[in-house]
Amino acid sequence: MYNTTEFKNIIASIRNKQDITKEQLEYILNYKDDPDYLYQKASEVAQRIYNKEVYLRGLIEFTNYCRNDCYYCGIRCSNFYADRYRMSKEDILACCKKGYELGFRTFVLQGGEDNYYNDDMICDIVRQIKQENPGCAVTLSIGEKSHESYLEYFNAGADRYLLRHETANKEHYEKLHPHTLSCDNRKKCLKDLKEIGYQVGCGIMVGTPHQTVENIYEDICFMKELKPHMIGIGPFIPHKDTPFANEPMGSVELTLKLLSILRLIFPDVLLPATTALGTADVSGREKGILAGANVLMPNLSPVDVRDKYLLYDGKICTGEESAECVECLKRRVENIGYHLSNSRGDHPDFCK
Ligand code: 5AD
Ligand code: FES
Repeated sequence: MYNTTEFKNIIASIRNKQDITKEQLEYILNYKDDPDYLYQKASEVAQRIYNKEVYLRGLIEFTNYCRNDCYYCGIRCSNFYADRYRMSKEDILACCKKGYELGFRTFVLQGGEDNYYNDDMICDIVRQIKQENPGCAVTLSIGEKSHESYLEYFNAGADRYLLRHETANKEHYEKLHPHTLSCDNRKKCLKDLKEIGYQVGCGIMVGTPHQTVENIYEDICFMKELKPHMIGIGPFIPHKDTPFANEPMGSVELTLKLLSILRLIFPDVLLPATTALGTADVSGREKGILAGANVLMPNLSPVDVRDKYLLYDGKICTGEESAECVECLKRRVENIGYHLSNSRGDHPDFCK
């Protein structure tokens, strides 16, 4: 039943229709032979739009305090072993300055849902980053907020917002989160962000406990409806001090296949080869790029806090300086025949 011709035909169909059926998804994900052809086709699509350029985002993990208690996450509020920290505005600005000198033109401010930073503080930080670093883009990734707050950040100059939906299926969502969080609100936040005018990123973890192929199909359907500018996916990696400590890690191959499928369905979407992918496999990020990803998000946080933002075990780059990571990534990307771009890397719909 599973054969190469059918595999190739399905890939051609996904690419031509920019759509996939549940049966096609099952076929591709269950296909046991070498998936290289899929990766090749997806990277061809990426290259047609982005050449062999890889965009960089400087990630600043500015707080690991979080009011939420997601079962998979190492910085959940009930993890009393987490060594908590908050960066000051001055620390954040210093990181951006250093990043700017290293060539970064996008800064991603990511943190747990930490009410210590009120909306005025966030707006103030955004404004000052934009002011001190001409031509840069600011991405926020600080969780679920009200429409009003999202609008304030946008008016202060925030360009983009990352909020993974984690899973589009309500029942699955409830197996990953306590009842204080809801799938509906998550989706509403993403709709609000789109409506306000942000470049929006959604996404999932691959291989979370209880995830089915059907769930992944629903995720793709949700993405088709949302039309995100970015999609962040990475394997689930267990963290020892969470309820999912003993759950198996998500599969790297499944993640790569999904990256390729997403590239075929959403040809111009910004698709990071994530740190989780680089953690699950030493050459995961290179493999991700070769499967159709076109973004890397190295950490710009100061070394003394890096080993504290641990969403999962074994996270890479927790001892490196930002300059070291950039050098390392440059080498890795060039080794596979790609190069780092020095542009802001907006989604094509946002390019002036
Ligand atoms: N493994 C992999 N990814 C994780 N994230 C959170 N915890 C884990 C984990 N244990 C992801 C979530 C979140 C993003 C910031 O990191 O998808 O949205
Ligand atoms: Fe950080 Fe390689 S990317 S050390």
